[in-house]
Amino acid sequence: MKSSSKNQNNKRVLTGIKPSGFPHLGNYLGAMRPAIELQDDFEEAFYFIADLHSLTTVRNAKEHQEFIRGVTLDFLALGLNPQKTTFFRQSDLPEHAELAWIFSCITPFGLMERAHAWKDALAKKLKEPTVGLFTYPVLMAADILLYQTDLVPVGKDQKQHVEIARDIAEKFNSTFGETFKLPTPSIPDNIASIPGTDGEHKMSKSYKNTIEIFAPEETIRKQIMGIKTDSTPVESPKDPEHDTVFKLYALIANTTETENLRDKYLAGGFGYGDAKKLLAEKYLQFFAPAREKRIELAKDLGYLDDVLKSGAQKAKKIASQTLATVKEKVGLIL
Ligand code: ADP
Ligand code: TRP
Repeated sequence: MKSSSKNQNNKRVLTGIKPSGFPHLGNYLGAMRPAIELQDDFEEAFYFIADLHSLTTVRNAKEHQEFIRGVTLDFLALGLNPQKTTFFRQSDLPEHAELAWIFSCITPFGLMERAHAWKDALAKKLKEPTVGLFTYPVLMAADILLYQTDLVPVGKDQKQHVEIARDIAEKFNSTFGETFKLPTPSIPDNIASIPGTDGEHKMSKSYKNTIEIFAPEETIRKQIMGIKTDSTPVESPKDPEHDTVFKLYALIANTTETENLRDKYLAGGFGYGDAKKLLAEKYLQFFAPAREKRIELAKDLGYLDDVLKSGAQKAKKIASQTLATVKEKVGLIL
């Protein structure tokens, strides 16, 4: 069904994922799955490992290599098809960093200061907030605009960064003449923000409240059993709408399964421990095919390198063209 519409849609879709840790349910439902689904609807989809962005946080080379390989495996295991998409690594294309510099020369300082992610970083009182973290959205704008992207699937927390990319595109266009398309963020409805296991924040590596996708089974069970719940006693009825275990279950179970669990909550006599066990079984079942596929893929790292290399070659054709146009417009070509 989906593939029949593919050729009718000549818009370009692009997203990046930062290799800075192990993916969790929030990354999957908020960013990876929507991106993977779009590969069937769009003639041209660009997906890349944002390994220049992860330099803002990762400080160990070996760990960084593992994260980069890891995210590549994760994406392929979860269904990204390198035949249907251009799948590459940001640092393989120097055009990203070069365009980012050109953009940083026209981007108002105040625009960066208003970025939520930067304000959050300051609020967390990082020991040493870096220039790279401050100008993170400029590099992201370069990622998006280099490919004349129409649509950028991201989680809710990245929406503002895509809007900043639009602002930078408009600024460039008005300064040097029409050059860039204005991108639009695509945020999946109803799964805009997946709650974390602390029952307080959104699920995020930085809050350490995640349920991972590819961790060993015991780790996943432990993360699920650690979900914070209220103190309603086992025998009392419970409110499914205000419980993280139920919310997470509803995101991965089908309607009948979800309704069954809702009935158990409302009836009472069913404890949060029981609900967590049910969630753990569902979770492992939900990700079983991807977990098996990842084990197979990991046996041939040469294949991963080939996929990324050929993706970089395809991406280069467009990125180098856009950069050449930009250099001409700003007077860097004599
Ligand atoms: P983290 O917060 O764990 O560091 P990232 O910032 O690396 O995750 O986000 C990677 C992608 O996953 C982004 O597009 C982001 O919007 C999405 N994402 C992360 N956490 C969530 C969440 N809790 N709910 C929905 N989407 C999320
Ligand atoms: N900043 C994004 C994140 O943290 C990753 C990213 C980098 C990205 N460049 C991008 C996402 C371009 C979309 C488009 O998740």
